[in-house]
Amino acid sequence: MKPATKINVDQPAAHLRLVSGRAAGETSGIKLSGVSKTYRSRDGDVPSLRPLDFHINQGEFFVVVGPSGCGKSTLLKMISGLLPPTSGEVLVEGEPVTKPHGNVGIVFQNALLLPWRNILSNVMLPIDMKKLPREKYLARAKELLKLVGLEGFEKKLPWQLSGGMQQRASICRALVHDPKIMLMDEPFGALDAMTRERMNVELMRIQRETGKTVLLITHSIPEAVFLADRVLVMTERPGAIAAIYDVPLPRPRSLDAMSDPVFTELVQRIRKHFFTQGSLD
Ligand SMILES: Nc1ncnc2c1ncn2[C@@H]1O[C@H](COP(=O)(O)OP(=O)(O)OP(=O)(O)O)[C@@H](O)[C@H]1O
Ligand SMILES: [Mg+2]
Repeated sequence: MKPATKINVDQPAAHLRLVSGRAAGETSGIKLSGVSKTYRSRDGDVPSLRPLDFHINQGEFFVVVGPSGCGKSTLLKMISGLLPPTSGEVLVEGEPVTKPHGNVGIVFQNALLLPWRNILSNVMLPIDMKKLPREKYLARAKELLKLVGLEGFEKKLPWQLSGGMQQRASICRALVHDPKIMLMDEPFGALDAMTRERMNVELMRIQRETGKTVLLITHSIPEAVFLADRVLVMTERPGAIAAIYDVPLPRPRSLDAMSDPVFTELVQRIRKHFFTQGSLD
C-alpha cells in the first residue's frame, strides 16, 4: 500500500460525498425509521442506540463501522428480527420485521455452531430448519466449504476447528440457502490477514454475481472502504449516525483498490471520526 496521502480532513474532498441516510425505493431493501434500543436490566437501563433513520438499497453492499459497544450487534439483531426495537420500525422489502424472516442469512459475531453437529451438518442447518430438499443443497454446502478452505473438515465437530475455521463455516451456513439479504457481524474478525483479504474478495464476488443486499459490520476501516458501496460511521454508545459516506471506487475491485488515493483519503476521513471521539478502535 502507498503511504497515506496528506489531506485536510476538515475540508471535504469533492469526490467524498457525504450523503443522507434516506434514499429512494422505500419498498425494497432495508429501511429503519426511528429505530432505537435501550436494554432494561436489574442494574438499570442501558441506552444502546439512539433513534436511527436510514435506508439500505436492494443489492447494496452497506458497511457499518463504530467503536466497541456502540450498538452495532444490537442494530443487526433488530434488523434480523431476533431483538425487538425499543422504538421505531424496521422494514425489509416493505414488510415490518416482527420476527426472524426466512430470506436472510446471518453471520453472528461468534460462530455459534451447534457443538453436536459436524461441520457439514452445521452448514446444512438452515436447509433442515426450512425443510428444503437436502440432496439439492448438499452439493452447494460442500462447494461453499471448499471455497472457504474447509474441504476435508466436513465430518469434524466444531471443537476440532480453530476459531477462524469455525467462523468460515458459519459464513457457509449463512450462504447455503442463497438468501437475498446477508447480515454479517464482524464475519472476518477471527481470520488471519491473508485469509481475510481472500474472503473479502470472495464475498464481493458473490455479492456482485448474485445481487444480494449485504449489511456487514466491521472494526476495520480499510475493510469497510474496500467492500462497501456506502459506509455508515457510528458514534460512541448510545450509537447514532456520525456520517454515511459513498465509496466512489469502481467495481469490480481488486486488492489494488487499496492503493488508490480515493481509498486512502476515505480511510483517513473515517478514522478522524474515532480520533475526535477519543476512541481508537
Ligand atoms: N442483553 C443485553 N443486556 C444489557 N445490555 C446489553 C445487552 N446486549 C448489549 N448490551 C449493551 O449494549 C451496548 C451495545 O452492545 P452491542 O453488542 O450492540 O455493541 P457492539 O457495537 O456490537 O460492540 P462490539 O464492537 O464490541 O461488538 C453495550 O454497551 C452492551 O453492554
Ligand atoms: Mg458487536
